[in-house]
Amino acid sequence: PFKKLKDELLSVTPPEEFTDVAGFDVKEEKSTVSITVVGASGDLAKKKIFPALFALYYEGCLPEQFTVFGYARSKMTDAELRNMVSRTLTCRIDKRSNSALSFGLGPVFALFESKLFGLHERLHPFGFFRENCGEKMEQFLERCFYHSGQYDSQADFAELDKKLKEHEAGKVSNRLFYLSIPPNIFIDAVRCASLSSSSPNGWTRVIVEKPFGRDSESSAALTRALKQYLKEDQIFRIDHYLGKELVENLSVLRFSNLIFEPLWSRQFIRNVQLIFAEDFGTEGRGGYFDNYGIIRDIMQNHLLQILALFAMETPVSLDAEDIRNEKVKVLRSMRPLQLDDVAIGQYKSHTRGGVTYPAYTDDKTVPKDSLTPTFAAAALFIDNARWDGVPFLMKAGKALHDRRAEIRVQFRHVPGNLYKRNFGTDLDQATNELVIRVQPDEAIYLKINNKVPGLGMRLDRSNLNLLYAARYSKEIPDAYERLLLDAIEGERRLFIRSDELDAAWSLFTPVLKELEEKKIVPEYYPYGSRGPVGAHYLAARYKVRWG
Ligand code: NDP
Ligand code: BG6
Repeated sequence: PFKKLKDELLSVTPPEEFTDVAGFDVKEEKSTVSITVVGASGDLAKKKIFPALFALYYEGCLPEQFTVFGYARSKMTDAELRNMVSRTLTCRIDKRSNSALSFGLGPVFALFESKLFGLHERLHPFGFFRENCGEKMEQFLERCFYHSGQYDSQADFAELDKKLKEHEAGKVSNRLFYLSIPPNIFIDAVRCASLSSSSPNGWTRVIVEKPFGRDSESSAALTRALKQYLKEDQIFRIDHYLGKELVENLSVLRFSNLIFEPLWSRQFIRNVQLIFAEDFGTEGRGGYFDNYGIIRDIMQNHLLQILALFAMETPVSLDAEDIRNEKVKVLRSMRPLQLDDVAIGQYKSHTRGGVTYPAYTDDKTVPKDSLTPTFAAAALFIDNARWDGVPFLMKAGKALHDRRAEIRVQFRHVPGNLYKRNFGTDLDQATNELVIRVQPDEAIYLKINNKVPGLGMRLDRSNLNLLYAARYSKEIPDAYERLLLDAIEGERRLFIRSDELDAAWSLFTPVLKELEEKKIVPEYYPYGSRGPVGAHYLAARYKVRWG
């Protein structure tokens, strides 16, 4: 909608000095956007941020005039940054090419790859990652620059400011800073960046990565510190699950289809499950993870955000504030999580097929006696008229047997079910279940009871199935693409407001403290298993079977 609006505005020739409320000059050639990735040498920058920026550039979504600056302590020249970015982009292109192989294009692909084309043009012949990929990448890299500096040095940020100004060259200058650094240096970086740059005449926005503190107090302290230098509307707290296609689609599914909304309540829904599973451990991130654990890493943010979108009332409009108001209401209607309603686990080493998979505590950056949970299951409740008594069960774990993120909605039994009476189908078979598979293989399917075709009368459980790969040919953009574009366009809908954050922490802080104070020992589960049995006992208490 923003792009459409912008196109319409551009077609009406605005007066010379006209700018929109966000400071965007409607005559694009008069404004610039400088995107500074603070912590550009790091894992997230390489894996997600630069590839997302390139994808946006490729799709023509970035403003006409933009530059990307990498900032970190590592010494690097512009050329070295470009090499680093180009290597990660090439990997990404290679990754996509694997899908081409699975479509039977392997031999053709290999021929083009090895004989005829340079690395960047690999997929050009199939149009798989679209045309002119290499050419576009070169153009993108020409807009990328690097500045080396300390995060707590105003002088270094002042040098960066000078360089930014050279590129902004008197135009309306809008600046986006992406804090892709460990949280203990957020404030230093924000302080130095804000004190050392003379304020640009456009907007300045700052994307802040999670974790936003580790409990209510530290989160409030972080917010207070950020607000010394920034206004709330300049702070974009990212939760990349909000940028995932199926999470964005939740509201569409609920509010633009007549059939779901009437069923969306305690009257028809028995329980809701929010499941996050990864089939790998904390590899390489043990140092960070040990200080946080799975409840802070996944539940308090990604799964809780999905829950809020799932359970909120219809917002007044699609405006960011209206949506966030409804999300806060849900969070504030929830009961703080009780220790009895939590089961925790930690993965241990396991040997399978001659391969030994490490225990969590085998990571050199994790203390041998760590009690940090790598798995947790929890039962949460929303004490409002719509959801009273409905368990919202969350399960999140690392080093499990599969990788998936799903929302599973189990409906109540059909009252006086004729077929159950006559054919004795078991309890679960008779209930419907709606599954929203966020990843991988995005899908929405509804489990229904159906007659097996034939002369007899036999019931079967079948799926009404919307498999995204089969229905839509367009590749689904990475969550970071959507969120970066939103931040550039000033769209706050998918970012976390400070009151949402406070409400989210108040649900989890008491139980997190209790777990730590009582030194609760997690149940150990083998790497690659289905997780601890404690999760099943917890679900069984609420008469739920995990999907
Ligand atoms: P890194 O550990 O890779 O750190 C990023 C950069 O920060 C490093 O390249 C380094 O740059 C600098 N840095 C690292 N440690 C310190 C330190 N102790 N003091 C000063 N500078 C330091 O982090 P990630 O890229 O993995 O993550 C960045 C942010 O994003 C973090 O807040 C993380 O929690 C969050 N995040 C990361 C995810 C991921 O998948 N990686 C996923 C979700 C969130 P240099 O030495 O060159 O200055
Ligand atoms: C991050 C967590 O926020 O999300 C990681 O810190 C986790 O531990 C990651 O692996 C999962 O994201 P995705 O998009 O790969 O499901």
